[in-house]
Amino acid sequence: MQPLWIRELHEHHDEIVTLHGWVHQHRSSGKIQFVQLRDGTGFVQGVVVKEEVTEELYAKVSSLTQETSVLVTGLVRADDRAPSGVELLVKDLEIVHKTVDYPITPKEHGVDFLMDHRHLWIRAPRQRAVLKIRAEISKAIRAYLDGEGFTQVDPPILTPSSCEGTTNLFHTKYFEEDAYLTQSGQLYMEAAAMALGRVYSFGPTFRAEKSKTRRHLIEFWMIEPEMAYCTHEDSLKIQEGLLQAVVRHVLTNCSLELKVLGRDVTKLERVLEPFARITYDEAIALLRQKGHTITWGEDFGSPDETAIAEHFDRPVFVERYPASIKAFYMKPDPARPEVVLCADLLAPEGYGEIIGGSQRIDDADLLLERFKEHELSETDYAWYMDLRRYGSVPHAGFGLGLERTIAWICGLEHVRETITFPRLLYRMYP
Ligand code: 4AD
Ligand code: MG
Repeated sequence: MQPLWIRELHEHHDEIVTLHGWVHQHRSSGKIQFVQLRDGTGFVQGVVVKEEVTEELYAKVSSLTQETSVLVTGLVRADDRAPSGVELLVKDLEIVHKTVDYPITPKEHGVDFLMDHRHLWIRAPRQRAVLKIRAEISKAIRAYLDGEGFTQVDPPILTPSSCEGTTNLFHTKYFEEDAYLTQSGQLYMEAAAMALGRVYSFGPTFRAEKSKTRRHLIEFWMIEPEMAYCTHEDSLKIQEGLLQAVVRHVLTNCSLELKVLGRDVTKLERVLEPFARITYDEAIALLRQKGHTITWGEDFGSPDETAIAEHFDRPVFVERYPASIKAFYMKPDPARPEVVLCADLLAPEGYGEIIGGSQRIDDADLLLERFKEHELSETDYAWYMDLRRYGSVPHAGFGLGLERTIAWICGLEHVRETITFPRLLYRMYP
């Protein structure tokens, strides 16, 4: 019999079917045994009744251990209490591979132990739920941007110069030359926007940051839309539309996974209303009111971001930061050149900045001035300057951090659970 997937079982009530999977949990109460099976698409409970099966089969089931791989044949019965809506009355079972001493047991394990066994930990229901939601979030991002007329473009990973400043670049050799792992594909995406209008990248980026917070990964994925003939204002509309589409998609398609994670979905539903907005100046005033010691011109730390976000029950755009604390490419506000036309989007519930974006400088002379101020080599960036020489237009874009977005939507303590094999300050294994 061709095995079915657990997710297909609800279409096979009262049929005899075969499943292939693993034993997630097993317990016995004398005359009946319960085997929790998993196959990646879901979980289902197998029920084995002593009086209804051979002694040999009953003994085989008794010997099952956690994560033993099995082929199970049985009758599909409706069960309203089960998340899958069904259970399986087991008629036959074949062991594919017997597992001995699976390291991750139902007892409590420390985070380091679990991270050392990440290759096995991802089989756990919570971890599976996060990875499923990650895939759905990626799908929703692409669907939204594709629907808005964006074209996906893939910028290089190996780069000769920096985008976000030189302090956190991963250095490597490109034969005889120096090279760096990309921090952001933005500069290349600006070139692509002039060729294709609206573009986005979707790929890994690297930051050699000595940060050990719950928001930092060394390798993370970023989605970087870039739009020609686009202002700061236009860009904020796309950012809001994108995140609302993502949350709507997850609420519609991942209710089982959100339940496994115990996520309070009413908090996510609030995101479907318009986002809050304040300026950097207003944020400074708000922080001072709340007793933070911060002066104009300083960047926000995590506690500051959390305090600002807590003030609103929705995502909040913080706009128009001082030019001095932002990247070289951001366009000054014509009405007030000491601030730039940028915004960081802070997620609710203390998840921090999930988007950084801005309108870009489109004037060649001003860009040249910025290169000098930031001590960037004109020759390294000659190609980037060309974009201001040949048909320069107003343009804007942003970078959405995938893992922080997942952590927030899933309600996780730490970004390390949002990616299959996280690269952290003190961890590159497994
Ligand atoms: O604010 P960032 O540094 O912006 C840029 O790189 C721009 N060039 C993007 C653009 O305009 N095209 O990073 C963008 C986002 C942050 O808001 C955050 O969500 C995420 O990337 N991010 C990180 N996520 C996890 N770990 C880290 N170390 C991160 N650094 C940034
Ligand atoms: Mg940023």
